Amino acid sequence: MGFTFRVQPEQMDNTDLEKAMEKLLPERRYRHSLGVEYTAGALAMRYGAATEKALIAGILHDCAKAFRGNDIIRRCDECGISLTDTERSNTALIHAKLGAYMAEHNYGVQDEEIISAIRWHTTGRPGMTLLEKIVFTADYIEPHRDRADNLPEIREMAFNDLDRAVAVILEQTLEFLKGCGNEIDPGTQEAYDYYSELIKNRE
Ligand SMILES: [Fe+2]
Ligand SMILES: [Fe+2]
Repeated sequence: MGFTFRVQPEQMDNTDLEKAMEKLLPERRYRHSLGVEYTAGALAMRYGAATEKALIAGILHDCAKAFRGNDIIRRCDECGISLTDTERSNTALIHAKLGAYMAEHNYGVQDEEIISAIRWHTTGRPGMTLLEKIVFTADYIEPHRDRADNLPEIREMAFNDLDRAVAVILEQTLEFLKGCGNEIDPGTQEAYDYYSELIKNRE
Protein backbone atom coordinates (compact mmCIF):
# COMPACT_ATOMS: atom_id res chain seq x y z
CA MET A 1 0.00 0.00 0.00
CA GLY A 2 2.94 2.28 -0.44
CA PHE A 3 4.07 2.61 3.16
CA THR A 4 7.77 2.75 3.81
CA PHE A 5 7.71 2.43 7.57
CA ARG A 6 7.61 -1.01 9.05
CA VAL A 7 8.23 -1.98 12.64
CA GLN A 8 9.58 -5.46 13.06
CA PRO A 9 7.72 -7.25 15.85
CA GLU A 10 10.88 -7.76 17.89
CA GLN A 11 11.58 -4.02 17.80
CA MET A 12 7.99 -2.95 18.26
CA ASP A 13 7.36 -0.50 21.03
CA ASN A 14 5.10 2.44 21.42
CA THR A 15 7.77 5.10 20.94
CA ASP A 16 8.66 3.79 17.44
CA LEU A 17 4.98 3.80 16.64
CA GLU A 18 4.58 7.37 17.94
CA LYS A 19 7.21 8.50 15.43
CA ALA A 20 5.44 6.64 12.63
CA MET A 21 2.08 8.21 13.53
CA GLU A 22 3.61 11.68 13.79
CA LYS A 23 4.75 11.31 10.16
CA LEU A 24 1.51 9.78 8.92
CA LEU A 25 -1.24 11.76 10.63
CA PRO A 26 -2.26 15.43 10.62
CA GLU A 27 -1.15 17.21 13.81
CA ARG A 28 -4.57 17.26 15.47
CA ARG A 29 -5.12 13.55 14.83
CA TYR A 30 -1.64 12.76 16.09
CA ARG A 31 -2.27 14.64 19.35
CA HIS A 32 -5.56 12.75 19.75
CA SER A 33 -3.73 9.45 19.17
CA LEU A 34 -1.18 10.31 21.86
CA GLY A 35 -4.07 11.18 24.18
CA VAL A 36 -5.73 7.81 23.50
CA GLU A 37 -2.38 6.09 24.00
CA TYR A 38 -1.74 7.37 27.51
CA THR A 39 -5.40 7.29 28.56
CA ALA A 40 -5.60 3.63 27.47
CA GLY A 41 -2.36 2.98 29.38
CA ALA A 42 -3.84 4.54 32.53
CA LEU A 43 -7.07 2.53 32.21
CA ALA A 44 -5.04 -0.65 31.66
CA MET A 45 -3.18 0.00 34.91
CA ARG A 46 -6.45 0.63 36.70
CA TYR A 47 -8.11 -2.57 35.46
CA GLY A 48 -5.12 -4.90 35.30
CA ALA A 49 -4.88 -5.18 31.51
CA ALA A 50 -1.54 -5.38 29.67
CA THR A 51 -0.30 -1.78 29.68
CA GLU A 52 2.07 -2.17 26.70
CA LYS A 53 -0.75 -3.60 24.57
CA ALA A 54 -3.01 -0.69 25.56
CA LEU A 55 -0.31 1.83 24.61
CA ILE A 56 0.27 0.20 21.20
CA ALA A 57 -3.45 -0.12 20.42
CA GLY A 58 -3.97 3.48 21.57
CA ILE A 59 -1.26 5.07 19.41
CA LEU A 60 -2.24 3.02 16.33
CA HIS A 61 -6.04 3.04 16.65
CA ASP A 62 -6.59 5.85 14.11
CA CYS A 63 -3.69 5.05 11.75
CA ALA A 64 -6.12 4.58 8.83
CA LYS A 65 -7.61 8.05 9.44
CA ALA A 66 -4.85 9.27 7.15
CA PHE A 67 -7.10 8.13 4.28
CA ARG A 68 -10.65 9.12 3.46
CA GLY A 69 -13.48 8.91 0.95
CA ASN A 70 -12.85 6.92 -2.20
CA ASP A 71 -9.18 6.49 -1.27
CA ILE A 72 -9.99 4.47 1.85
CA ILE A 73 -12.54 2.35 -0.08
CA ARG A 74 -9.97 1.65 -2.80
CA ARG A 75 -7.35 0.66 -0.23
CA CYS A 76 -9.81 -1.73 1.44
CA ASP A 77 -10.70 -3.27 -1.93
CA GLU A 78 -6.98 -3.72 -2.71
CA CYS A 79 -6.38 -5.41 0.65
CA GLY A 80 -9.38 -7.71 0.29
CA ILE A 81 -11.23 -6.10 3.22
CA SER A 82 -14.97 -6.59 2.73
CA LEU A 83 -17.16 -3.56 3.41
CA THR A 84 -20.86 -3.39 4.24
CA ASP A 85 -23.22 -1.01 2.43
CA THR A 86 -23.33 1.17 5.57
CA GLU A 87 -19.54 1.41 5.52
CA ARG A 88 -19.42 2.23 1.82
CA SER A 89 -21.84 5.11 2.33
CA ASN A 90 -20.29 6.31 5.61
CA THR A 91 -16.56 6.03 5.04
CA ALA A 92 -15.74 7.43 8.50
CA LEU A 93 -16.62 3.97 9.86
CA ILE A 94 -14.07 2.15 7.71
CA HIS A 95 -10.88 3.34 9.37
CA ALA A 96 -11.27 0.85 12.23
CA LYS A 97 -11.23 -2.12 9.82
CA LEU A 98 -8.41 -0.77 7.68
CA GLY A 99 -6.54 0.32 10.82
CA ALA A 100 -6.62 -3.22 12.21
CA TYR A 101 -5.29 -4.50 8.86
CA MET A 102 -2.54 -1.85 8.79
CA ALA A 103 -1.52 -2.56 12.40
CA GLU A 104 -0.84 -6.15 11.37
CA HIS A 105 0.54 -5.72 7.86
CA ASN A 106 2.27 -2.35 8.01
CA TYR A 107 3.31 -2.02 11.64
CA GLY A 108 4.10 -5.63 12.45
CA VAL A 109 1.54 -6.11 15.21
CA GLN A 110 0.90 -9.80 15.65
CA ASP A 111 -1.06 -9.68 18.88
CA GLU A 112 -4.72 -10.53 18.24
CA GLU A 113 -5.91 -8.56 21.28
CA ILE A 114 -4.31 -5.35 20.01
CA ILE A 115 -5.60 -5.87 16.46
CA SER A 116 -9.09 -6.53 17.74
CA ALA A 117 -9.06 -3.47 20.04
CA ILE A 118 -8.28 -1.33 16.96
CA ARG A 119 -10.93 -3.17 14.91
CA TRP A 120 -13.75 -2.37 17.35
CA HIS A 121 -12.75 1.07 18.62
CA THR A 122 -15.37 3.01 16.65
CA THR A 123 -18.59 0.99 16.95
CA GLY A 124 -17.82 -1.22 19.91
CA ARG A 125 -19.51 -4.63 19.91
CA PRO A 126 -21.43 -6.83 22.34
CA GLY A 127 -19.18 -8.65 24.82
CA MET A 128 -16.01 -6.65 24.24
CA THR A 129 -12.71 -7.84 25.74
CA LEU A 130 -11.17 -5.70 28.47
CA LEU A 131 -8.63 -4.22 26.05
CA GLU A 132 -11.38 -3.43 23.50
CA LYS A 133 -13.39 -1.59 26.18
CA ILE A 134 -10.30 0.31 27.30
CA VAL A 135 -9.40 1.58 23.82
CA PHE A 136 -13.05 2.30 22.96
CA THR A 137 -13.40 4.37 26.16
CA ALA A 138 -10.01 6.09 25.89
CA ASP A 139 -10.97 7.24 22.38
CA TYR A 140 -13.94 9.11 23.83
CA ILE A 141 -12.45 10.55 27.02
CA GLU A 142 -8.82 11.40 26.16
CA PRO A 143 -7.87 14.90 27.37
CA HIS A 144 -8.07 16.64 23.96
CA ARG A 145 -11.71 15.61 23.42
CA ASP A 146 -14.33 18.27 24.05
CA ARG A 147 -17.44 17.14 22.20
CA ALA A 148 -19.63 16.01 25.12
CA ASP A 149 -20.66 18.39 27.92
CA ASN A 150 -20.51 15.68 30.56
CA LEU A 151 -16.98 14.49 29.78
CA PRO A 152 -15.67 15.16 33.32
CA GLU A 153 -18.37 12.82 34.65
CA ILE A 154 -17.64 10.11 32.05
CA ARG A 155 -13.90 10.38 32.69
CA GLU A 156 -14.46 9.72 36.37
CA MET A 157 -16.91 6.90 35.58
CA ALA A 158 -14.38 5.27 33.23
CA PHE A 159 -12.03 4.78 36.15
CA ASN A 160 -14.77 3.55 38.51
CA ASP A 161 -17.11 1.47 36.38
CA LEU A 162 -15.87 0.69 32.88
CA ASP A 163 -18.99 -1.16 31.66
CA ARG A 164 -21.22 1.74 32.69
CA ALA A 165 -18.90 4.20 30.94
CA VAL A 166 -19.05 2.05 27.77
CA ALA A 167 -22.88 2.06 27.93
CA VAL A 168 -23.04 5.84 28.39
CA ILE A 169 -20.56 6.48 25.57
CA LEU A 170 -22.56 4.22 23.21
CA GLU A 171 -25.79 5.97 24.20
CA GLN A 172 -24.31 9.42 23.58
CA THR A 173 -22.76 8.27 20.29
CA LEU A 174 -26.16 7.03 19.07
CA GLU A 175 -27.81 10.30 20.12
CA PHE A 176 -25.10 12.30 18.37
CA LEU A 177 -25.37 10.27 15.15
CA LYS A 178 -29.19 10.50 15.13
CA GLY A 179 -28.93 14.25 15.79
CA CYS A 180 -26.78 14.87 12.73
CA GLY A 181 -28.74 12.45 10.56
CA ASN A 182 -25.73 10.19 9.99
CA GLU A 183 -26.28 6.57 9.09
CA ILE A 184 -25.79 4.39 12.16
CA ASP A 185 -23.71 1.24 11.98
CA PRO A 186 -25.92 -1.58 13.32
CA GLY A 187 -22.90 -2.67 15.41
CA THR A 188 -23.16 0.48 17.57
CA GLN A 189 -26.84 -0.20 18.30
CA GLU A 190 -26.11 -3.87 19.10
CA ALA A 191 -23.28 -2.86 21.42
CA TYR A 192 -25.51 -0.31 23.17
CA ASP A 193 -28.33 -2.85 23.62
CA TYR A 194 -25.85 -5.31 25.12
CA TYR A 195 -24.20 -2.89 27.56
CA SER A 196 -27.40 -1.11 28.65
CA GLU A 197 -28.92 -4.54 29.41
CA LEU A 198 -25.77 -5.60 31.26
CA ILE A 199 -25.94 -2.52 33.49
CA LYS A 200 -29.68 -2.99 34.10
CA ASN A 201 -29.27 -6.64 35.08
CA ARG A 202 -26.56 -5.73 37.54
CA GLU A 203 -28.81 -3.37 39.50
FE1 LIG B 1 -11.20 6.28 15.24
FE1 LIG C 1 -9.78 8.10 17.67
